[in-house]
Amino acid sequence: MGLGLVATTPAAWVEQVERDPLALLSDHAHCELKAAASGQALVGKNPDFPRLVDEVSAVVVEEMEHFQLVVAELRRRGGDLGLQLPNHYADRLHAASGQGRTSILLDRLLVAHLIEGRSLERFQLLAEHLADRDLAALYAGLVASEGRHRALFLSLARERFGDQADARLDQLAAAEARILADLPPAPTMHSGSPAG
Ligand SMILES: [Fe+2]
Ligand SMILES: [Fe+2]
Repeated sequence: MGLGLVATTPAAWVEQVERDPLALLSDHAHCELKAAASGQALVGKNPDFPRLVDEVSAVVVEEMEHFQLVVAELRRRGGDLGLQLPNHYADRLHAASGQGRTSILLDRLLVAHLIEGRSLERFQLLAEHLADRDLAALYAGLVASEGRHRALFLSLARERFGDQADARLDQLAAAEARILADLPPAPTMHSGSPAG
């Protein structure tokens, strides 16, 4: 798939979403909000890294635009933003990065890269396979910016940490695949995958 992910989400996940699109949209809106919050924290903690400050703050603005877009789509469909569900995927990924860590910044950048990559993979699946072509179009419209975010986090990691970034990415990408395999399938952005 060219996204550097160790595990591939099967198209059967899209069928689960198709049965409960409001659940996906609500979960997705919260993911965008959390992406913005994580980006803000990264900027605040790294004032000595000007490219990060400039480019990640631009990502934060885009994530909030995505949040508003997804909430508007929820309301258009008669739903609304639900309560934030626990995000075991992101929590476990951050916990996994505690093992063998040499730099908090490196791991934060790589975890952000992996989460963007998994989101991008699933947006692409939705854009391609959803029978609901309106919803497919919304996801197709988000592919380019999440792809840019994904590339940015890795390029910041490489700029600051050189070859160490790729070696650590191999470890965290393997952990990401294990975490996903362990989570139950659900119509949520970072659920486990149903049997394909
Ligand atoms: Fe986003
Ligand atoms: Fe993003």
